Amino acid sequence: MDANHEGEENSGSSDLLRMLPAEQSATARAPWVAVIRRLGARHRGRIARHLQALDEHDRYLRFGYMANDAQIQTYADSLDFENDAIFGIYNRRLELVAMAHLAHSVDRSYDACAEFGVSVLPSVRGHGYGSKLFQRAMRHARNEGVYLMFIHALSENKAMLNIARKAGATVEYDGSEARAYLRLPPATFESQVTEMFEEQLAQTDYRLKVQAKQFWDFLAGLQDVRRGVRAARHKSAP
Ligand SMILES: CC(C)(COP(=O)(O)OP(=O)(O)OC[C@H]1O[C@@H](n2cnc3c(N)ncnc32)[C@H](O)[C@@H]1OP(=O)(O)O)[C@@H](O)C(=O)NCCC(=O)NCCS
Repeated sequence: MDANHEGEENSGSSDLLRMLPAEQSATARAPWVAVIRRLGARHRGRIARHLQALDEHDRYLRFGYMANDAQIQTYADSLDFENDAIFGIYNRRLELVAMAHLAHSVDRSYDACAEFGVSVLPSVRGHGYGSKLFQRAMRHARNEGVYLMFIHALSENKAMLNIARKAGATVEYDGSEARAYLRLPPATFESQVTEMFEEQLAQTDYRLKVQAKQFWDFLAGLQDVRRGVRAARHKSAP
């Protein structure tokens, strides 16, 4: 993967970019096909921005407390991309619209356990991204030899608990908090090949999105130049 493609985005907006099909109104548009890719250290900035875009209530649901921007930044800075798996869904503007964190236990005596956390931006909720990220994390956990996946959620978090329950997790309530755990079957050749294939597909998808965005930026630049030329002609006309 080209390092430039992985680097921080050049998210400058332009008229042409605003005309991308994905930029139709959030309610009217059909969501793009969500391709999930594994994120690395170069994505820290986008991860922080994604989480900082959540409102106070969502931050509370995600972290169990109302994390402020600085605490989110610390969380993003301290993500361990070697030990844990972080997955993301990018839109065509290369904005991270959804992400999940599968955290392995730091204590080696619990290395068969992992904890799952997820967030989806409000504008793209209800399209199955949370569920897809959960399924993706499940496959990865299974292939890594994890037997038990845990989810800490507030009891009020119907969407999260719904995702976990649908995947077969057992949910236990303790006042305002809920703990869900899911037993995973051992990895198979098929589960490993499926994950490899998904990652390949995600890399290709991301490269295409980068190229498409760069091309739109290029066209937008041309449009600006044309506008400038037209304005200059207009001014110099007698
Ligand atoms: C929880 C969250 C990730 C769900 O994301 P999403 O992409 O909207 O989830 P999905 O579209 O996959 O929907 C999941 C299921 O919950 C259901 N659901 C969604 N919102 C719901 C709500 N408010 N009440 C009840 N069920 C709800 C959906 O209908 C779906 O069930 P279905 O497949 O049977 O239709 C998202 O709401 C979010 O980011 N919340 C803030 C952070 C958070 O709570 N994180 C989880 C704690 S770690």
